Amino acid sequence: MRNDLNPYPKQPFIFKSLFLVGLLMFTTSCKNSKEKEVAKVVPEAAASIDLNKQINDCEKQLEISVPKLTDLTKHPRLIETNETEWQEVTNHKLIWTSGFYPGILWYAFDVTGNERWKDEAIKRTEVFEDFKNITEHHDIGFMMFPAYGLGYEIGGKKEYKDVLLTSANSLASRFNPKVGTIRSWSNKMHPRWKQHITIIDNMLNLELLFWAAKHGGDKKLYDIAVTHAETTMKNHFRPDYTSWHVLEYDSITGAVLNRNTKQGFADDSRWSRGQAWGVYGYTMVYKETKDKKFLDFAQKITDKYLSLLPEDMVPCWDFDVANDPKEEKDASAAAIVASALLDLSILVEDRADQERYYNAAIKMLKSLGSEKYSAVGKADSFLLHSTGAKSLGHEIDVALIYADYYYIEALDRLKKMEEKNKINL
Ligand code: GLY
Repeated sequence: MRNDLNPYPKQPFIFKSLFLVGLLMFTTSCKNSKEKEVAKVVPEAAASIDLNKQINDCEKQLEISVPKLTDLTKHPRLIETNETEWQEVTNHKLIWTSGFYPGILWYAFDVTGNERWKDEAIKRTEVFEDFKNITEHHDIGFMMFPAYGLGYEIGGKKEYKDVLLTSANSLASRFNPKVGTIRSWSNKMHPRWKQHITIIDNMLNLELLFWAAKHGGDKKLYDIAVTHAETTMKNHFRPDYTSWHVLEYDSITGAVLNRNTKQGFADDSRWSRGQAWGVYGYTMVYKETKDKKFLDFAQKITDKYLSLLPEDMVPCWDFDVANDPKEEKDASAAAIVASALLDLSILVEDRADQERYYNAAIKMLKSLGSEKYSAVGKADSFLLHSTGAKSLGHEIDVALIYADYYYIEALDRLKKMEEKNKINL
């Protein structure tokens, strides 16, 4: 062999030793990460759920509902109690649920590989490109990420990037540096509050900012997301790690003026979906930042949420009315948390925590796919028994589009985890 082609030319002993130590460390770290991957799927829990059946059930439901939903200017929002078909609402810049239906179709494509759902998803996504300019409220993240974000990530639609970057800038325009949060709602739409309103749900919109910062957007988008998460962590939670829904801040001084609710039972009650948004939000913020303070916080609020759950793992719509068996459930909260828990089970390092969160997610998904919560044979959605806004007198014990969205997201995540686990085994 000619010496200049030899990849291992003669080296002094010190270099050889360093090379061997490095090789040993590399091999050990590969072994550790392999063990960690395997630990994420707990075989007994994984075997206890019929994941393929639950995914097939979703696809069968879409085969029934999609041909009925032909008006591209609208999206399905809810199925009233005892009704069977989706009520559609206009895709409108003030309607926060506009992105979930395309998001469901993107996940359906991802989890089944069926191109039919991709074609539907594209149609349903591209109808509201103009929403990228929304600056009237914070929900642009909820609207654009499930549609355009998943289109980019799952559908390979790289041309959606500019829409997402513009959307992120629109969201960031609502950040108030004196407060340290994004302003969620306008006072015109929510006249009870006169100054800067931030709601716990806003945590989910941060995903759009993190995505944009990683894909050519301004670095300040990342900083805004982190500052929002830090401020919310400080002000939005009680000492027992339960969350308020709505905080009003003084727009000039940043002082907290009021802690209230809009969709919970009472100003000081523990609205279940609010806690669920917190669990999902802080898990995602840790995933994006790798800052341990967010992981620690995500675990604390998750553990609190889990400690408040009933046997079937689906909470009552507000934890403070849960003692009354007549009060309705909120399957949407369970779907949101199940999806978050699968991510959390990967992010935590302690094996007991990995198993605990993974097992809890499986129990939630099994419960949601069971006769009690599944809509199969009863209505066109995936799930029944969600409650959107009981305190406002509507969406009580109904099917909700975002419950279905987080449910299929969780099934897709679980399938990926199981496939990865098989490869690592
Ligand atoms: N983000 C609105 C809700 O959870 O109802």
